[in-house]
Amino acid sequence: MPSLTANLNLLGTREPETYGHDTLTTIEKLCHQTGESCGATIEFFQTNHEGDLIDRIQACRGTVDAIVLNAAAWTHTSVAIRDAVTAVSLPLYEVHITNVHKRDAFRHHSFLSDVSVGVICGFGIQGYEYAIRQAVVNLNK
Ligand code: DQA
Repeated sequence: MPSLTANLNLLGTREPETYGHDTLTTIEKLCHQTGESCGATIEFFQTNHEGDLIDRIQACRGTVDAIVLNAAAWTHTSVAIRDAVTAVSLPLYEVHITNVHKRDAFRHHSFLSDVSVGVICGFGIQGYEYAIRQAVVNLNK
């Protein structure tokens, strides 16, 4: 379940020099195509509201096998999203379009990385594909 959050609905027009020209729709298609190619069903979700993301993560318990999450700015701020992720006991794959370590110091800390299977950042929207493929590989081990 790739989940994109705060402000990522603006992709394509939001700081294109940083985030590129791909839109949310392009990412959604990429995720579904990747899922189809490796036999996984993808549920795609985007919200600008932290509580809605927490509800969506909670709804994953017992219904999905893994979570691919770009928590956007909440990555760096939200203990509540971290708690939701740990509460559902599902493998988490953290994705960022940009290399957050090359950016502002406040983006260097993530509340999610140490509860994630792995972190992919800096590879643009391709990071979603890598994360989905690796999640499927790990589930089939
Ligand atoms: C982001 C990086 C975050 O620091 C930022 O707040 C975002 C997007 C990324 O995908 O590169 O909104 O998660």
